[in-house]
Amino acid sequence: MSEKATLNLGNKTYELPVVTGTENEKAIDISKLRDQTSYITLDSGFKNTGCTKSAITFLDGEQGLLKYRGYAIEDLAEKSTFIEVAYLLIYGNLPTQAETDNFKLQISKHTLLHEDMKKFYDAFPPKAHPMGQLCSLVSSLSAFSPESLNPNPSKEDIDLGIIKLIAKMPTIVSWIYKGSLGEPFIYPKSQLDYVANFMNMTFGQVTEEIGIDPVVVNALDKLLILHADHEQNCSTSTVRIVGSSGCNLPASISAGISALWGPLHGGANQAVIEMLELIKNDGGDTEKWINKAKDKNDPFLLMGFGHRVYKNFDPRANIIKKACDKILDKLGINDPILEIAKKLEDAALNDPYFVERKLYPNVDFYSGIIYRALGFPTDMFTVLFALGRLPGWIAQWKEMRENKEPIGRPRQVYVGEVNKQFIPIADRV
Ligand code: SDX
Repeated sequence: MSEKATLNLGNKTYELPVVTGTENEKAIDISKLRDQTSYITLDSGFKNTGCTKSAITFLDGEQGLLKYRGYAIEDLAEKSTFIEVAYLLIYGNLPTQAETDNFKLQISKHTLLHEDMKKFYDAFPPKAHPMGQLCSLVSSLSAFSPESLNPNPSKEDIDLGIIKLIAKMPTIVSWIYKGSLGEPFIYPKSQLDYVANFMNMTFGQVTEEIGIDPVVVNALDKLLILHADHEQNCSTSTVRIVGSSGCNLPASISAGISALWGPLHGGANQAVIEMLELIKNDGGDTEKWINKAKDKNDPFLLMGFGHRVYKNFDPRANIIKKACDKILDKLGINDPILEIAKKLEDAALNDPYFVERKLYPNVDFYSGIIYRALGFPTDMFTVLFALGRLPGWIAQWKEMRENKEPIGRPRQVYVGEVNKQFIPIADRV
């Protein structure tokens, strides 16, 4: 017999169905609650509210588990590639060699941008933040792909739109970087694999002289895998709700990029490095800054710490922290802020304030140190997060559309003025 929840309101008792997921997560289905009781639920920040049933990613915040389509993130980061993981998230299975080869071939056909898109790059002021440019440039793709504007796209339209977005994102991102330097754009090379092609378009001159370092390509490929999806986070929920209106894929993804930009979300990876630099330049007194983070009268937060779901370690942070030492060592880089980061982590993990609130390093705490070692400027870090998260956003948008989910439209409890009498302007004081 299926499990039920009982709700007593006044002198009435209601039964609500309980949904159990394949990892034994439980939810009370309130989809008929208002019809049955005239009541709604209230949950600021959706801390206790599920918006969908999804088969893409599973998180266990207490155990520190992350799985894409049932595969443990540790296995995928160690043994797979970003392109394989993108296929897994979007189409639901790890691709065969033939499926992988075809996926790469289709992507290689669409890596170029329409030459008219260069006018957008020219229009941005030199110091325009890369995330603001990325929002605009990704949304503009719909202007060059009329099939993306079909409100009832065919499967072929959707698949083509997905391939185009996956293919063009590295070109868009690398040209944002080259534009910030005032350097000429480097065009994609179809003979290069996805990440190597991105690194060549980004650091072209360097890679042409010294070749594309496989250590660098492998490090970035692993980071992109670790960022590829994370169930219903702020930016993914944004992509889903924007897509639920029937909005096209590029514009839905552009909305997700905007949400990711915030320093409480993906923008944290930039904020972490700025924080570590601030602490280093302030003399490296980590205890002073830990105390500032604990002080409720001080707006300072320990960026890269804490998570809405992980109340234990973030498995991605553990993988990235280990990779940090290896990559910096292989590249012969000694970055003093890595030691500051480790000191901060040790101090926080032994401080009751952080322990009681279950605040651990999250994916953003160490990732910026690797991005920096790979040669990226700090303001490009969140754009790299978006490059990694793209297949996850696409997979979630596709699942929402395939499941024909209704347009997202939350309710509210009104607490404003009641029955105000209109006063002509001449009589207002
Ligand atoms: C990402 O959701 C996802 O999956 C996101 C993400 C993904 O892959 O998509 O994992 C990526 O966004 C990671 C998070 C990156 N953001 C940061 O590193 C910014 C710093 N962290 C915080 O802003 C905060 O921890 C959040 C936003 C991440 C989570 O906030 P919650 O869940 O709303 O928790 P909260 O703000 O209510 O904090 C609970 C308590 C509060 O103290 P009390 O009121 O109980 O006394 O913990 C404190 C907070 O003040 N707290 C912190 C803190 N984070 C929480 N105190 C100091 N420093 C911090 N970083």
